Amino acid sequence: MLDFDIIIVGTGISGINFAYRLKERHPSLSYCILEDRHEIGGTWSLFQYPGIRSDSDLYTFGFAWNPWTGKNSIVHGSLIRNYIEESAVKEGIDSKIRFGHRVKGMRWSSSSNSWTFDITVNSAAERLSLTSRFAFLGTGYYDYQKPLDAKIPGLSNFQGKVIHPQFWPTDLDYTDKKIVIIGSGATAITLLPSLARRAQVTMLQRSPTYIASLPSEGGFEALALKFLPGFLANRLIRLKWMLFSFFMVSFCRLFPRMAKAFLLRRTAKLLPPGMNLEPDFIPSYNPWEQRLCLCPDGDFFDAIKSGKGSIQTGRIENITASAIKLTSGEELHPDIIVTATGLKLSTGGGIGITIDGKPYEISDHFTWRTAMVEGLPNVMLSWGYVDASWTLGADSTAQLACRLLAKMKEDGVSAIVPRMTAEERDSSRFEERPFLRLKATYVKEGGSEFPKAASIAPWQPRSYFWRDIAISRWGDIETGLEWLEY
Ligand SMILES: Cc1cc2nc3c(=O)[nH]c(=O)nc-3n(C[C@H](O)[C@H](O)[C@H](O)COP(=O)(O)OP(=O)(O)OC[C@H]3O[C@@H](n4cnc5c(N)ncnc54)[C@H](O)[C@@H]3O)c2cc1C
Ligand SMILES: *[C@@H]1O[C@H](CO)[C@@H](O)[C@H](O)[C@H]1NC(C)=O
Repeated sequence: MLDFDIIIVGTGISGINFAYRLKERHPSLSYCILEDRHEIGGTWSLFQYPGIRSDSDLYTFGFAWNPWTGKNSIVHGSLIRNYIEESAVKEGIDSKIRFGHRVKGMRWSSSSNSWTFDITVNSAAERLSLTSRFAFLGTGYYDYQKPLDAKIPGLSNFQGKVIHPQFWPTDLDYTDKKIVIIGSGATAITLLPSLARRAQVTMLQRSPTYIASLPSEGGFEALALKFLPGFLANRLIRLKWMLFSFFMVSFCRLFPRMAKAFLLRRTAKLLPPGMNLEPDFIPSYNPWEQRLCLCPDGDFFDAIKSGKGSIQTGRIENITASAIKLTSGEELHPDIIVTATGLKLSTGGGIGITIDGKPYEISDHFTWRTAMVEGLPNVMLSWGYVDASWTLGADSTAQLACRLLAKMKEDGVSAIVPRMTAEERDSSRFEERPFLRLKATYVKEGGSEFPKAASIAPWQPRSYFWRDIAISRWGDIETGLEWLEY
């Protein structure tokens, strides 16, 4: 007897969304959700730095089954966390969660076609094993315990405070301090205006990033919500944002030079009088080769105009007890350094996997429909988009999982395993492809944490929502998948 039909790991967007789909489509299957933390929310529970917010619109980042009805499309992290929790409670999903349960290992047994989860409870005070037929890993894509080793020369010499945004000390008083944020991604762009309300802040970047300002409240949303019945308004607003991000990303990919000129023209208008795009605002790459940073109502540029925020482009030569020395000879003298240089990527929540006693590494294998991995039976992993809302991809995986479960039941099958054939691998059309379509430094360096992807279906990386959701609902789920009977 197994403890559960399905064990879900993680209570972020992915885990909660899948629990909903499961309840909706397979109410007879038993499940539980294991979560290391003390509360629901995943990313939105862990990250607590000042100003933390989404950089996607909440209409598509929110769940399709519990539409985001706020007026603002980009909101504070605490509101996102509350929303995820409220959504779970509304559907009774919260009663299935076991908090403080960290999955350390997963063991597959081919003789019983089942998984055994090795779990530590309440920071290893207790140990527990649970069994299930199927596993859904909503464990996100980065390491929750360890930040990225920032590799900044001389950082350990610094005598002031060094803070990583992943572990922001919420009791830190930074009023009137001099702060240098190292980095230029979404986190740095978010932190600067928020910290600059109380401190003198410099964002030190190696190279510029695209920053696009968006109005925080849209006229369309307000009108739709006012004049249309709720369900229709929500659908229209969601569709608008799906199309908006789809066209924006597609436009940038198809017409990179026009997109670059357009974005830079908009940026130039937001700069303080007398400030030029050179040297801090002209990226060396094309729009959407790295994630585009959004700032609501131009808050980033307002902070620069106020004089409390500044931006500097340069390379760090060394850091001493009290100064950051740049290769240009310039020096910065902060009280606090914030290393916003990226996340330590990780796949599968750091869970040690064995198959019939043999260690199994996810990153050595190809991904099947970006949802399962070659040779790994009955495990679905949830990856979202990096160039659209994560949730859209997570839901595409959740719906695919439900369809596979239905077919397993219909065929009386107890295990499914992706397998690549020798013909596929030897085919002239077969080429390896990057798993993620982003060139951010930390993605390049950490890329080996992800499974491999290829040029031919079903081993391709994620493409875009419409295609992925169509495949999840109606596409071929036979090719590349071995179905094992009882
Ligand atoms: C600061 C920040 C801002 C972001 N903003 C956006 C945005 O605006 N739009 C967007 O699309 N994406 C954004 N992202 C990406 C974001 O992580 C995803 O959108 C989404 O929140 C991920 O959801 P998830 O459920 O897949 O994973 P997570 O939110 O990472 O949740 C994973 C959960 O699994 C648990 N877990 C992991 N391993 C184990 C284990 N071994 N045992 C037990 N539990 C485990 C964790 O504790 C956690 O609760 C952002 C990321 C960060 C860091
Ligand atoms: C960096 O600065 C420290 C402290 O001042 C010094 O000891 C070290 O030699 C410097 N390193 C380099 C490479 O200049």
